[in-house]
Amino acid sequence: MSVIKDEINKRRTFAIISHPDAGKTTLTEKFLLYGGAINLAGSVKGKATARHAVSDWMEIEKERGISVTSSVLEFEYDGYHINILDTPGHQDFSEDTYRTLMAADSAVMVIDASKGVEAQTRKLFKVCGMRGIPIFTFINKLDRDANDTFELLDEIEKELGIATCPVNWPIGCGKNFKGVYDRQKREVITYSDTQKGTKEGETTVIPIEDDTAVINAIGQERHDILSDEIELLDGASAEYDLDAVQAGKLTPVFFGSALTNFGVEVFLQYFLKMTTTPLPRKSGEEMIDPVTHDFSAFVFKIQANMNKAHRDRIAFMRICSGKFEAAKEVKHIQGGRTLRLSQPQQIMADSRKILDEAYAGDIIGVFDPGIFSIGDTVCAPSEDIVYEGIPTFAPEHFARVRQVDTMKRKQFVKGIEQIAKEGAIQIFQEYNTGMEEIIVGVVGVLQFDVLKYRLENEYNVEIKLEPLPYEHIRWITSEGTDLDKITGTSDMKKIKDLKDRPLLLFINAWSVGMVLDRNPGLELAEFGTD
Ligand code: G4P
Repeated sequence: MSVIKDEINKRRTFAIISHPDAGKTTLTEKFLLYGGAINLAGSVKGKATARHAVSDWMEIEKERGISVTSSVLEFEYDGYHINILDTPGHQDFSEDTYRTLMAADSAVMVIDASKGVEAQTRKLFKVCGMRGIPIFTFINKLDRDANDTFELLDEIEKELGIATCPVNWPIGCGKNFKGVYDRQKREVITYSDTQKGTKEGETTVIPIEDDTAVINAIGQERHDILSDEIELLDGASAEYDLDAVQAGKLTPVFFGSALTNFGVEVFLQYFLKMTTTPLPRKSGEEMIDPVTHDFSAFVFKIQANMNKAHRDRIAFMRICSGKFEAAKEVKHIQGGRTLRLSQPQQIMADSRKILDEAYAGDIIGVFDPGIFSIGDTVCAPSEDIVYEGIPTFAPEHFARVRQVDTMKRKQFVKGIEQIAKEGAIQIFQEYNTGMEEIIVGVVGVLQFDVLKYRLENEYNVEIKLEPLPYEHIRWITSEGTDLDKITGTSDMKKIKDLKDRPLLLFINAWSVGMVLDRNPGLELAEFGTD
């Protein structure tokens, strides 16, 4: 038991989120460098060519030069066992990113110091907020001109609604970037950009009390500004409070430059200490403790055809409690049967390794003969656990899909249902039509291309997509609502999902409010939950 406990307590499973280009990949790469998982910076994903070598499984990724799927990066550092859930940077694949966040215990939010909070940061943050997981902020690119530090913090607080607690504080930026001040240790750490890519550059650490040395290192003017800022900070900023961080109400903030490798290892060390061990998860009314319960896991992602030669389907599972042992049978709750997980693998960025065992906090990929759905629970036969389903995110783009050759109806239905099961698309039907004509909703428009490509290549079915103007979807959740009696705006469309649940589509956001006003008692939800 204590071995299991020790193993679980070593685990730190987190995702790195950012608006594209803020520096997520560069930061990840530096983390891996410290863990010794890679020897050379640039091997995670540098430019398009390097990118392919790592996580691009699908042809379409190669064609587009973007990363569609996400993988898991696993390494040991300083006694910790780290699982980084790599999320695709491209904003069109946000739904996949959202699901990946469901498997993380905390998140690192990377912000570009010259841009502040951006659109994608806001979206991803919202999902982290739904889960109440701790969020750590790394404000990046201080080696370039940056926005005012107080304004950056203010923006995070106002735009994201989370209190900030700077753990360190930048001294200048761009050409005048001199380093950071560590508020806990009361030390100035000086910056040098001498070593891009490898380990930290040459730095000196000076206690703040040593005025002469600090002035020598950063200059009189910077010293005076820093003294004022420290005074202001100590008086005004939120105190570090572990409970508030762990409840997702306060974010510790760090400053640095991932590219020049300044402040990255310090951040990693603080982060690993401050963030949580694998969190308990809810099953019904019970919170399942990761240590005291036997093996359990849930499926958060299904990826088909990662290896075209094998036409395989991999179900990614996040282990939530106990120890996974490949030789033992597990119970698949939704399938109502006991089975042995086939070919359990640790899916690294560019390789797969067959696993014999894994612990709560880890991610495993198992071969899926088509039995798993996103959100499914598997657990030891002795356990009785059903994890809460993963919410379906509201699609924002819709298209009518028609098959070109109506003789291939069977393949069409099979293909589209399989792809929907993986969660890449959501399918809807108009009232009074059959399966030969359906409406597909996606979170990112690129999924339309993926759908077309996959139906053609994997199912030999050609389709035509006709974009629809709707952008807002609402599930009708009020009991006993008579669909025919709902009166709405002219841009409203009534459809149903595959579970026959009624929905409304709208072009404008304000129409949603209008429909609610016109139909007292009507209740609408943004997410369809099972
Ligand atoms: P992402 O995964 O969040 O999309 O961002 P990524 O790490 O790919 O970084 C985006 C760009 O920003 C890259 O430049 C990267 O080198 C640069 N960058 C990341 N961190 C820093 C930093 O701390 N300082 C500065 N000055 N730049 C940084 P690129 O020109 O798009 O690509 P590359 O040629 O460097 O690979």
